[in-house]
Amino acid sequence: MEGIKLILLGPPGAGKGTIANMLRTERGTVALSTGDMLRDEVKNRTQSGRKAAEYMNAGKLVPDETVISILKNRIKEIPPNTGFVLDGFPRTTAQAEALEDIFRELGVSLDFVLNLEVPRDVVLQRLSGRRQCSGCGEIYHLKNMPSAREGICDKCGGALFQRDDDREDTVETRLAAYERQTAPLIEFYANRGILRAIKANVGPAETFNEVKKQTL
Ligand code: AP5
Repeated sequence: MEGIKLILLGPPGAGKGTIANMLRTERGTVALSTGDMLRDEVKNRTQSGRKAAEYMNAGKLVPDETVISILKNRIKEIPPNTGFVLDGFPRTTAQAEALEDIFRELGVSLDFVLNLEVPRDVVLQRLSGRRQCSGCGEIYHLKNMPSAREGICDKCGGALFQRDDDREDTVETRLAAYERQTAPLIEFYANRGILRAIKANVGPAETFNEVKKQTL
């Protein structure tokens, strides 16, 4: 699996960030999350961050040109022949087409697109209990994956926080945006013969095993 180049698709709360972190920890895969990049821009109050915050707080997708330019700069920093996983990008057909141009320019070829399949009720339960580390980005869940000490990250001791966009009303808008703008990418990548379905309505370790099996 070393050196493999992957995209993780799936609705909000499907477990994309969790699997990306497991790939990073166990395989040294470079994990790029556009959600984390945008949250950093917001935290640092950059021009892109200020613009992105309005969309993110409303549960809407940030405009393509903003996300594409942030992602392009980060992909270019990855050393050649190094494996990477994209979590949360692409989210629209325009982003998927822009990514193909970037890969062509860099001479990179994608191995697989993994579609994490999780029913809606499970997604809602996962998002309502999610907590994330403000230091290292590790992802927890109050019931499914609690930290050993409440509110404290097991890995780095950082404080855990709840994301603003995990509020119930914002989650509904995010799910609608996913159905309308992102779900069409399943067919986009199926047509390219690189889509793999992952039954992700099981625990993280079992989901990760399935990922390994499907990408052998
Ligand atoms: P982003 O941060 O990408 O959010 P998302 O896609 O909505 O996905 P999430 O991070 O909510 O969920 P996840 O699938 O990573 O699940 P996780 O592993 O955390 O984007 C946020 C916003 O940024 C967007 O709304 C948009 O505004 C903007 N944005 C980002 N990218 C963009 C783009 N390309 N274009 C335009 N705008 C963009 O897991 C969820 C919970 O479940 C956790 O608590 C976890 O512990 C638990 N869990 C995970 N796996 C399991 C399991 N197998 N069993 C039990 N519990 C599990």
